[in-house]
Amino acid sequence: MILSMDEIEIKLVANPYSVYVGTGWMELLPPFVEGQARVPVVSDRNVWRLYGEGLKNSEEVYGLPELVPVLIQPGESHKNMKTLEKIFAAFAENELDRSGCVLAFGGGVVGDIAGFAAACWMRGVRYIQIPTTLLAMVDSSVGGKTAIDIQAGKNLVGAFHQPSLVLANPALLRTLPPLEFQSGMAEVIKTAVLSSEELCAGILSMEPGVVDPELECVIRACVRFKGDVVAQDEHEGGLRKILNFGHTFGHAIEAKYGFKKYTHGQAVAAGMRIAARYGEGCGISEKGISSRIEALLKRHGLLIEEDAVDLIPWIRNDKKTHGEAIDLVLLKYIGEPVVIPTPFSELERTLKKMFKK
Ligand SMILES: NC(=O)c1ccc[n+]([C@@H]2O[C@H](COP(=O)([O-])OP(=O)(O)OC[C@H]3O[C@@H](n4cnc5c(N)ncnc54)[C@H](O)[C@@H]3O)[C@@H](O)[C@H]2O)c1
Ligand SMILES: [Zn+2]
Repeated sequence: MILSMDEIEIKLVANPYSVYVGTGWMELLPPFVEGQARVPVVSDRNVWRLYGEGLKNSEEVYGLPELVPVLIQPGESHKNMKTLEKIFAAFAENELDRSGCVLAFGGGVVGDIAGFAAACWMRGVRYIQIPTTLLAMVDSSVGGKTAIDIQAGKNLVGAFHQPSLVLANPALLRTLPPLEFQSGMAEVIKTAVLSSEELCAGILSMEPGVVDPELECVIRACVRFKGDVVAQDEHEGGLRKILNFGHTFGHAIEAKYGFKKYTHGQAVAAGMRIAARYGEGCGISEKGISSRIEALLKRHGLLIEEDAVDLIPWIRNDKKTHGEAIDLVLLKYIGEPVVIPTPFSELERTLKKMFKK
């Protein structure tokens, strides 16, 4: 029996799918894996230790085929070619064929690499995202971006490959380490400021770090927003770029500290703060927007200050840059983002003027 679950449709023309946020979702799985002898479940060792047994138990309850764990080491440093090869070996061992389906059971690292493995295997097999981190529930499990990292950079090798289904159970977030929870909240706040006043109000009133029905509603709203954006621009030709709000500065902050000082979410939080002040400073954003964003960040322990001028060389190295300009995502108002192609020279000049020490 499905206990409580809202279906959110991701209305892509060629490959629409549904995202369910709630509990009791395992009963939706059988039709997707019907006729398959074994179903590879890519997961990481942390997630499997906590939830592997529960997932295995559902084989009998729901009459599922054998769920075969394909376990990877946790962490970004394992989202690489070596791990991918091991996943392929497991696919071969379990005779995964063109009609098969793979489960990605974990955070964004698992989702990205399992999705990419599914995109490549026999030129593409189906996969289902079962996200277990807040970031994965609100962001990485929806939209079909899959990738691994190589020496030259993060997410440089990848593919667009949409999942066939996304099943998110917020109850799994109860075991998430606080820092990971907070990191996911940065993407929640990003989505809120891009989407609506209403969602921002919800985020300001919610209890930080608590898994409750309010969080579930917020996750649904974030998925709905991202799904709508992706449905309009699957391959990031235009609109989808707005999802990078705070990320140009955030990526530069991560790179500046060798990906060690901050989590991705913390860096994005600091990046959103700079982007908001930049937008306000050059008259594109409504006055007061930066203090409103700061209030949201503060509520969730994400008010982080980083020097903007120092970031210039790191921004130049961003893989999203093209030639001598960069697409800056700014907010006119809450819920009204704009993408502004900005030459580096102008960015540099404005940052120096605005953030002079
Ligand atoms: N594809 C996309 O659109 C997209 C978007 C944003 C980010 N990403 C990618 O997502 C990745 C980051 O994902 P992440 O933040 O989920 O990190 P992650 O997958 O590394 O998970 C964070 C940590 O939490 C642990 N964990 C996961 N679920 C847990 C649970 N329920 N309880 C306890 N521990 C749990 C994991 O083992 C890991 O140690 C990056 O590689 C990033 O590039 C992809
Ligand atoms: Zn991000």
